[in-house]
Amino acid sequence: MSLRSLINLRIVFSVVFILLLGGATAVWQARQSVEREVQSSINLALQMIEFGFAQVPLSSRYGSEWLPQISALQQTRHLHISISENGVKPTKFITQRIVDEARNEPPQWFIDLVRARHFTEKYDVSMADGTVKTILITADPMDEITEAWGESQAFFWSIVAMSVIMFLAINLVFNAVLRAVKTILSGLQQVEDGHYGLALPRFKIKEFDAIALEVNEMSSSLKAAQKNNQALARHTMHIQESERQTMSRELHDEMGQSLTAIKAMAVTSKQASADIPSIADSIITVCNHLSIVVRSMMRTLHPLSLAELGLRATLSDLISEWQRRTSDLMIDLDYDDQLERLNNEVTIHVYRIVQECLTNVVRHAKATHVSILLEKRGDTVWMSVSDNGVGGQMGQQGFGVLGMRERAQNLGGKFLFESVDNEGVNVIVQLPYIEKKR
Ligand SMILES: Nc1ncnc2c1ncn2[C@@H]1O[C@H](COP(=O)(O)OP(=O)(O)OP(=O)(O)O)[C@@H](O)[C@H]1O
Ligand SMILES: [Mg+2]
Repeated sequence: MSLRSLINLRIVFSVVFILLLGGATAVWQARQSVEREVQSSINLALQMIEFGFAQVPLSSRYGSEWLPQISALQQTRHLHISISENGVKPTKFITQRIVDEARNEPPQWFIDLVRARHFTEKYDVSMADGTVKTILITADPMDEITEAWGESQAFFWSIVAMSVIMFLAINLVFNAVLRAVKTILSGLQQVEDGHYGLALPRFKIKEFDAIALEVNEMSSSLKAAQKNNQALARHTMHIQESERQTMSRELHDEMGQSLTAIKAMAVTSKQASADIPSIADSIITVCNHLSIVVRSMMRTLHPLSLAELGLRATLSDLISEWQRRTSDLMIDLDYDDQLERLNNEVTIHVYRIVQECLTNVVRHAKATHVSILLEKRGDTVWMSVSDNGVGGQMGQQGFGVLGMRERAQNLGGKFLFESVDNEGVNVIVQLPYIEKKR
């Protein structure tokens, strides 16, 4: 069921409920007031009759001369007054209900609901000739019921009018809400299709405006992330290409040259006059050189020692290498031995991040001191590399910081780059602590 039908259904239910409740209350109130009004009219009539006869001496009560005493009661509403003689059926009617044809007569069901019990009061009058006439006062609540019917109708129509106004007002608001929801939905669909440049318009309704702002922010973050990813992908391909070039140059320059030299020496050694020991010495020298070249190429491709020696030894090796190259830089390593049990995937990320941080310090920081902290904190590997250099902002050009952030996020970790001018940079990374299988 659509939201609109649901709201309309609720409104109809509420209106019906209000009408039923209001109708029951109106009937109950009408019933009370009819009863009160009728009773008070009867009481008034009785008092007037009593008072009237107190003024007429018994000797004057004959014929119909006494009738004018109570004729004043003709004006009293809701009453039928009749006279019966010695218990016989009423004969004379002093007051009659005048039915106004133009009046809005209530329907029978309403009369049945509102009509109170039937009131009749008797008043016996002794006459001069010894007879007793009985004045019967019967209540007729029709006037009151007609009045209550008019009020109930007014109540009903005012509720209907209010409901129509409420219905229109809610539907107007609802149309605005639906328009906003549709716009936001189509915006989200565009984001889903990868169109991150979208900007939703501002809305007058505060809540939707807040959602639109959030969607716009989300789509611009996704756009930035997409841009970074594309740049990283291009950078990775570029690195791959340049590594292949370096590799092929090294193979060509070092291996090719050395192999040619070895071959030439082998050919020379075949001659009778060849100085075999010196040729062998030369081959040994060339082979030693080759093994250094091959090791260096392999270290560039993958730090094999990580698997062989462990993270601590490989990091110490890296640190010694940097200290050898930059003698005025002090590097501290605070290492938690539990990290030796880290699995290979996380270990290589930890190593690469420390490697990039140290490269950045040497390249950008002009620092004299770097502290590296690596420890297990709960379920995470906590890393911090802080220097006392000049500080600096993550530029648009570099890929080292982006790469570190990617590594952390790909593993479900966190990355933070904090820099204070002339105090240095602190890189904090949290990675999940995953132990290697035994
Ligand atoms: N330790 C640091 N001290 C000062 N500035 C730093 C430090 N680390 C990073 N930066 C700043 O952050 C920028 C981005 O670093 P990033 O490693 O992403 O790029 P890069 O080192 O310039 O290039 P590359 O892509 O080769 O790593 C640097 O250009 C530098 O301005
Ligand atoms: Mg860098």
